[in-house]
Amino acid sequence: MHESSISRDLPKPQFYAELARELRSLTAGEPDVIANLANASALLFHSLPDLNWAGFYLLKDGELVVGPFQGKPACVRIAMGKGVCGTAAARRATVLVPNVHEFPGHIACDSASNSEIVVPMIAGDELAGGLDIDSPQVGGFDAEDQAGLEEFVAVLMAAVIRSGSACGAGFSRPPEPSG
Ligand code: SME
Repeated sequence: MHESSISRDLPKPQFYAELARELRSLTAGEPDVIANLANASALLFHSLPDLNWAGFYLLKDGELVVGPFQGKPACVRIAMGKGVCGTAAARRATVLVPNVHEFPGHIACDSASNSEIVVPMIAGDELAGGLDIDSPQVGGFDAEDQAGLEEFVAVLMAAVIRSGSACGAGFSRPPEPSG
């Protein structure tokens, strides 16, 4: 069993650098997308303080469908443009919500959630889904968390693209290398 040993006392930039290093190690040589997403959600959930949900929504046939996650059972399908997840997916940009009760159209899957961040996942130039993280704290995420989680998703997508197995889990096949 992999045991994360990242100190929560580290300043956030160093904490997220360590987290990215652990993710690279966890996904190295593993081509299975679901396995990598499952371990990535567990790594996040058990490394970051004060979370009640961490996981993935995957784009399938034009809507977001829940993928590997840690936390309580969640809404299965989210339309593009709806909720925090659908908004981030439609914009292809991270959405950081300090207080979910002030976000119009927020979809409440877990009443414990008070803040949320969604980072879109892009393979090549195709939207693949999003990383969604919820905290019971109002203001649970800041700009340093956003930068760290965007790097986390970049490492994950690089692993997916390297594996060449981007199809089959809501992921679009990345473009063939030119030349
Ligand atoms: N709150 C999200 C729905 C997913 S759950 O948080 C796991 C949203 O508004 O899209």
